[in-house]
Amino acid sequence: MNGLETTWGGHVIAVGNQKGGVGKTTTAVHVASGLANRGHRTVLWDLDPSAGATKHLGLAPDAYPGTLELLLGDIKAEEACISSAECDASFTENLSVIPSKRRLETIDSELGARCRFFNPLDVLAEPTARLRESFDIIVLDTPPSTVLSPSLSAYASSDWFLLAAMPDPLAVTGLADAARDIDAVRSTANRELRLLGVVLNAVDNRTRLCRELTAYIDECFASPTGQTHRLAPAIGRSTVVPTAQKMGRTVLDAFPRHPVAEQFAALAESIEDRLILAQRALDDDLVSVASSGIAR
Ligand SMILES: Nc1ncnc2c1ncn2[C@@H]1O[C@H](COP(=O)(O)OP(=O)(O)OP(=O)(O)O)[C@@H](O)[C@H]1O
Ligand SMILES: [Mg+2]
Repeated sequence: MNGLETTWGGHVIAVGNQKGGVGKTTTAVHVASGLANRGHRTVLWDLDPSAGATKHLGLAPDAYPGTLELLLGDIKAEEACISSAECDASFTENLSVIPSKRRLETIDSELGARCRFFNPLDVLAEPTARLRESFDIIVLDTPPSTVLSPSLSAYASSDWFLLAAMPDPLAVTGLADAARDIDAVRSTANRELRLLGVVLNAVDNRTRLCRELTAYIDECFASPTGQTHRLAPAIGRSTVVPTAQKMGRTVLDAFPRHPVAEQFAALAESIEDRLILAQRALDDDLVSVASSGIAR
């Protein structure tokens, strides 16, 4: 079906950008739904107290235990995952969500009250390890840095960083800050973190700003072989996005024939391709390590 059966557990993808309002949640929700539609067992983990991803999928934030209870150790990872069949929201098969709620804002002080010496970098480590056993893809909708431990730990526990961006006069600064942070994480907390790509959302190709941002990404986010990390296709700006959001549905579910739905579906396919390529390279490495072991 999908060529993504890992020998090393599910892929953990943090969706982020230090800047607010640049389409992180919209990207996380639709990439997770798109990958689930392609047959991958996927969980969308809402780490943000504003619970945007939870609401976008149609769940009432306070109705279910989720991120807060999981990070406090009151429930296990598998108990925190909710599928459409287990709630009154309607989203795609193969997708589960770990919902958030406003009280997650207090997670740092609540964890500190339970253990003075807790390490903020580690709070997602055990839950993500457990989620890797049951899911092919784990998508994290990252919170603002004011929610310190889930924000830092998302960088520390992920394999991939998916950078969300929108054409905006400050977008270049936001992207440059994000790139610096990813570099800093790679040299400290998580050497394995890799940039999966840059998603451009709410674009209108006719504007100069949009063309300039595209050129900036192609120049500054290229692999050593010169390939751009910009993921295709870019997602167009359309009122179907906020409309679907208000309905508590994804554009993929509510307006499947709209061009934006087709763009999100194609974006999920591009991401799947990158994961398969990366996995093949890793599997080749493992085979060569194993055979050099045998040769010795
Ligand atoms: N393709 C699009 N077309 C039109 N509007 C969009 C599109 N994508 C996102 N938006 C709108 O942009 C706003 C910000 O998007 P979103 O909530 O995904 O950003 P965010 O980075 O998660 O924000 P925050 O930092 O507050 O968590 C939302 O109102 C959303 O409806
Ligand atoms: Mg958000």
